Amino acid sequence: MPHDSMKDKIMVALDVNSKTQALAIRDTLGDSVGWLKVGLRLFVAEGPSLIADLSKTHKVFLDLKFHDIPNTVAQAIESAGALGVQMVNVHAGGGLPMLQAASQAAQAFPEMKLIAVTVLTSDTMPKEQALTVALERAKLAKEAGLDGVVCSVFEAAQIKQVCGSGFITVTPGIRWGNQDAQDQQRIADPKMAVEHGSDYLVIGRPILQADSPKAAAEEAIKMMEGANH
Ligand code: C5P
Repeated sequence: MPHDSMKDKIMVALDVNSKTQALAIRDTLGDSVGWLKVGLRLFVAEGPSLIADLSKTHKVFLDLKFHDIPNTVAQAIESAGALGVQMVNVHAGGGLPMLQAASQAAQAFPEMKLIAVTVLTSDTMPKEQALTVALERAKLAKEAGLDGVVCSVFEAAQIKQVCGSGFITVTPGIRWGNQDAQDQQRIADPKMAVEHGSDYLVIGRPILQADSPKAAAEEAIKMMEGANH
């Protein structure tokens, strides 16, 4: 996927519980980042009207990680497409029939990318095992016709090698300087993420909890710009 600049590779995870807080962060960040990610907490609390508000200024990734029977997931994908979001995801662990049903439903929304979570970056399985499982699940997602996966930075390069350079990799678990890993297990900094072939960096607490979220986003962008391609 082509990017105008590094800011279009950053997805800020709006892990807050109210529209007021979400819009305040959006306004603080302004156009310093291209994407906002809405996860379970915020979507359950505020729903579609918030998506409409955020879509006025940013691209929106609806991170609800659908995992259910194929028919139910396909219907959820249709509902996500109707919201006009630019990215939505499912759990690759749902299996091939579920992924295929999701992929088929997403075809009605060509502007929306459909990606699959491989292994949660908080999962405590050893790195080597995570790589094996992530690769298997990425291949399954590719076979089902999805656009890409969510994986850790440590799996991104190999997934690209196996699934093709156009297969999107979205990587959470981004930390830099002396930031606390918190519940994340496989963390990497923004420069490393770009060097490993990450298309999109999901960043939550390092930006949300910073004294200046905008300055933190700009710091991440500066590190990304320093990456050796
Ligand atoms: O605060 P932090 O930067 O750790 O936030 C990471 C975000 O990415 C959270 O919203 C989390 O739900 C999401 N995520 C993740 N690992 C995945 C998929 C999504 O951490 N595999």
